[in-house]
Amino acid sequence: MLPTPNFDLSPFNTLGLTAQARYGAQITFPDQVAELSAFAASVGLPLHIIGGGSNVVLHDMVEAVVGIMASKGRFAEQRDDGTTLVTAQAGEDWSEFVAWTIEQGHWGLENLAGIPGTVGAAPIQNIGAYGVELADRLDSLVVWDTVDKRERRFDRAECHFSYRQSAFKRAAGRFIVLNVTLALPSPWVPVLSYAGLDSLPPDVEAPAIMERVLSVRGSKLPNWRELGNVGSFFHNPIVHPALAEAIAGVPRYPQPDGSVKLSAAWLIDACGLKGHQEGGAGVYPNHALILVNNDGATYRDIQQLAATVRRSVKERFGVDLIQEPIEL
Ligand code: EPU
Repeated sequence: MLPTPNFDLSPFNTLGLTAQARYGAQITFPDQVAELSAFAASVGLPLHIIGGGSNVVLHDMVEAVVGIMASKGRFAEQRDDGTTLVTAQAGEDWSEFVAWTIEQGHWGLENLAGIPGTVGAAPIQNIGAYGVELADRLDSLVVWDTVDKRERRFDRAECHFSYRQSAFKRAAGRFIVLNVTLALPSPWVPVLSYAGLDSLPPDVEAPAIMERVLSVRGSKLPNWRELGNVGSFFHNPIVHPALAEAIAGVPRYPQPDGSVKLSAAWLIDACGLKGHQEGGAGVYPNHALILVNNDGATYRDIQQLAATVRRSVKERFGVDLIQEPIEL
């Protein structure tokens, strides 16, 4: 596989930024990852992997070799204890994969329906929505280790998952996910705690939960195919309880260690920033945590807008917001 110089990344990022990589190539077979890694070393550039490009903010020129993960394949197997293991290659589309598991009668991923991106990207930031995180369902995964130059298997504990974090995100590119195995527990128990799902009847089945999740997502979050975005642009900040108490009205989610997670959307909203625009970038008018590409936004527009949001929230509430998407 010979990577293409000045590879166009514009079709491969949901924010819709115009961008190029020094070199780029599509990865259709897992063993091409090792080849691409060796190529990157030979030209003295880092290797970055993009899945669906739904959690990246790209510079105009990405000084790297970029691999577009497009490996396909998925299967299910039953364990003796009744648990179903479902495995998918990293390049599978996450939401298509979830829909497939439900169709096959393997329930447990329905709350994670509709999240843009690929299977391989899902563990990097421990995707989560509507009361379930990937960490709750992950059995194990296989990566290519670019330092030790070998395949390695990680079980759930070794992934060191926390809120939107993992060993893979902390190691910033060292590990490239090749395939992921989820464990779907038996008996299946619905998770209906999140606002929007709590009105469903207790005997509801997984397909109906998936349908509700898709409709709640559709009503709140813009479709990136129509309006470029990367989902939540900031983490919900986790702060000291005293700071949380000082902010009247903010939605608070107490954490097991005594700290408190706050709603970043509420904080940004309270600063009056919904609909605020800088260049081609704007804060989505219907959900303050989403930055959108309204009209030909550049990397610079997005970063200036993000800086305004961070500064406003810091000045008004004393809270630091952390950016969720990775910068390449
Ligand atoms: N809110 C506002 N203003 C807004 C939007 C929301 O005040 O403009 C308030 C709502 O009233 C609600 C609270 O903020 O009380 C939480 O809103 P929401 O339920 O939309 O969830 P979120 O905390 O903003 C998180 C995830 C989403 C995930 C949803 C649903 C993060 C950073 N974001 O958003 O994940 O879909 O919960 O589970 O944790 C993503 O990570 O890209 C993402 C979309």
